Amino acid sequence: MNIGVVGAGYVGLTTGICLSSLDHKITIFDLDEKKLNKISERKLPFFEKGLGEILEHVVDKKNLIPQNSMNELVKNTDGCFICVGTPTKNNSIDLTQIINSVKSVTESIVNNQKNNYKIIIRSTIVPNTSKEIILPILNEKLSELGFGLAVVPEFLREGNALDDFMNPDKIVIGSLDDDTNQFVKEIFSEFEKKCTIVETNLETSELIKYTNNAFFSMLISFSNEIANVAEKIPGVDPYEILKAVVSDKRITSKIDNNKVIPSLESYLIPGCGFGGSCFPKDVQALLDYSNKNNVETPLLKAILDINAERPNKMVLLAESVLSSLKDKKITVLGLTFKPDTDDLRSSPSIDAINLLLEKNAKVFAFDPILKSNPNIIKLPNGCNISENIEDALNESNLVMVFTKWNEFKNLNSELLKKFMKNPLIIDGRGFLEKEKFDAGTYFKIGYLEEN
Ligand code: UGA
Repeated sequence: MNIGVVGAGYVGLTTGICLSSLDHKITIFDLDEKKLNKISERKLPFFEKGLGEILEHVVDKKNLIPQNSMNELVKNTDGCFICVGTPTKNNSIDLTQIINSVKSVTESIVNNQKNNYKIIIRSTIVPNTSKEIILPILNEKLSELGFGLAVVPEFLREGNALDDFMNPDKIVIGSLDDDTNQFVKEIFSEFEKKCTIVETNLETSELIKYTNNAFFSMLISFSNEIANVAEKIPGVDPYEILKAVVSDKRITSKIDNNKVIPSLESYLIPGCGFGGSCFPKDVQALLDYSNKNNVETPLLKAILDINAERPNKMVLLAESVLSSLKDKKITVLGLTFKPDTDDLRSSPSIDAINLLLEKNAKVFAFDPILKSNPNIIKLPNGCNISENIEDALNESNLVMVFTKWNEFKNLNSELLKKFMKNPLIIDGRGFLEKEKFDAGTYFKIGYLEEN
């Protein structure tokens, strides 16, 4: 099928690359010519495991065509995905990019006199946006030519995007009309018998996306709230507690006497908090939307409040370990909001670094993915970036781990003692093996050792 993708960011480009690998002809548009040039040069503008190789292949095959003219995109396609950003502005969702791109597509439909062109919104938009904001734009200009409208959210995790796209658990198609529903089903026909296809209306589709992200964020904040309780009781380990809960047969089912541990287990782990470009933004947008509609949502608010405290919790723990942070050298290991990505957006490490600097600590950070590309790092002023772990640890008073990178899994006292002034470590993800550290030198967020 001939399909357009508007927006060559993370969602748009992943969607474009994956669909073109399924032999659709994809034309991809972005206002940023630099991004399009990179795609032409077969280079991925961000880091995502496995996607670069497929990009090379689909560009060579001319199945993925970068295009800087919206008119040409619409001329050569029967429908397009809108994959532009929906950031937060003054705590609300900012729809400027959505509105501008829908207007621009509409104009090109008129210019090309295209009948029944399909507009598929892939960006995350709060309920009723498609009906109340997008539909009136289309109705005004396209009533004679006819058009189709659908909301088809993405459920791609950074670091797992390729697998999430190619092995989806569900494809949600919210559509205005049957024709568009069929059109979208055909695009994803490869997956028809392999996953749940939810065929629904526009608003339900919009809310499914938010509910999905709010649910997983809630699990993380729930775990962190239990950690807050546990840390007041010496010797009580919240990680052990949540593991026990996960083994409940209503969570971990048994098939043929084998336990099937659900992958949501990894969201039931306390830590320094969630980040990224989706969970914080989407929970905030849903909260704001609900409140504007006179719905009180204390749970959504608590998810964010609990999360906002996590970096501070890490810093308070550091302060209690060292008594004062003034002029102390603190090593921060891990800057990205999770491993296998180069994304720093809303990363808890950045908030913690700012707090450490406010307390006059000297901060040296290291992240395995960012070491070779210092240009992409926008770190707080005063934070130093180290080239390797050893440099970051050198003469340090305390190391704090924020990201569960594999590179950090083997940290141990021997290594710390070799470089650090005080071989003390705070594990912000609870994933290091305590046994590898000398007694009294390993601290885990949410856990207070018994005296
Ligand atoms: C999230 C959702 O998981 C996707 O389903 C969704 O499509 C995407 O947002 C989006 O709306 O675009 P992503 O932000 O890439 O994807 O990441 P996750 O892997 O879910 O991580 C989010 C946060 O949860 C991170 O801060 C991470 O530290 C934490 N996390 C992640 C866990 O606590 N446990 C995990 O197993 C994975």
